[in-house]
Amino acid sequence: MPDLSVQVGPLTLKNPLLLASGTWGFGEGLSHHLDLSVLGGVVTKGISLNPRPGNPPPRLAETPCGLINAIGLENPGVKVFREKILPSLLAKIKGPILVNVFGESREEFLAVVEALKDEPVAGFELNVSCPNVEKGGLSFAQDPEAVKTLVQEVREVYTGFLSVKLSPVGPVLAVAEAALKAGADALTAANTYPALAVDLWQRRPALSRPGGGLSGPAIKPLTLKLVFDLWQRFKAPILASGGISSGRDVLEYILCGAAACQIGTATLIDPENPARILRETEKLLTALKEEKIFPLRGSLRLDA
Ligand SMILES: Cc1cc2nc3c(=O)[nH]c(=O)nc-3n(C[C@H](O)[C@H](O)[C@H](O)COP(=O)(O)O)c2cc1C
Repeated sequence: MPDLSVQVGPLTLKNPLLLASGTWGFGEGLSHHLDLSVLGGVVTKGISLNPRPGNPPPRLAETPCGLINAIGLENPGVKVFREKILPSLLAKIKGPILVNVFGESREEFLAVVEALKDEPVAGFELNVSCPNVEKGGLSFAQDPEAVKTLVQEVREVYTGFLSVKLSPVGPVLAVAEAALKAGADALTAANTYPALAVDLWQRRPALSRPGGGLSGPAIKPLTLKLVFDLWQRFKAPILASGGISSGRDVLEYILCGAAACQIGTATLIDPENPARILRETEKLLTALKEEKIFPLRGSLRLDA
């Protein structure tokens, strides 16, 4: 068996596969289809200070090779998460749990991290693809300075593993640089792409909002390029997230610079997919005659 263990900054994972934020609920039902202990880890859905109902339905639209979602970051808020959900997740999932955090202000992000920093979680992933009310609703992801201040402030209260989840649109490299300079251990690349689906017969947007985020195989080549660019520029730990649906996708991302891979939409398509992707990754490594996966990181050949 090849050695699939990887290092993501200070975090050691037994294999490079994590479940991506927002695509597996809190594991309800999923454990009937998937032995969660086989994975390298999981990332929770986005947790905010206060509960959020999310957007009204319809919130999902299928497209060729993709999914558009406008869930609207529905979640029970940090208090219920800490008291009710986290204990059951910890009982169910033996591996590392990263908590995905978002807020509409730095104070909200900080309050969530403060509330959870002494819990036995493996770290935090800050989702900066949300509007910053202090800047009139401009997304944090459009504003490298705001991301720098946010990460610096989080670092003052939390020294454990910290990743910043980038939006693929906007000044991505400047935001990544700001996050790393301010002390983030890793980058998660990336969130969904702004997209629109139309209901022709009603002449309306197909979702309750005139737009949503595109995920799934359709975005894989786009995010792969982004991961490649981030790795070439920063040589920093990257958690890849974008259309990963096979062992081949995992190895492609790793060659382009990812340290680990998050599986999102593929789990929604079939809850057995993460286990299949893991088996495929092992088989491909064996076929490539590699004994370890981690040294392959960033080893895409660029010579003539
Ligand atoms: C239904 C749904 C809900 C999501 N919720 C979150 C979320 O709460 N926080 C977050 O950072 N990303 C969220 N995402 C983005 C995913 O974690 C992932 O980054 C993105 O879907 C790209 O990966 P994929 O193509 O493998 O799905 C969500 C995606 C989907 C499809």
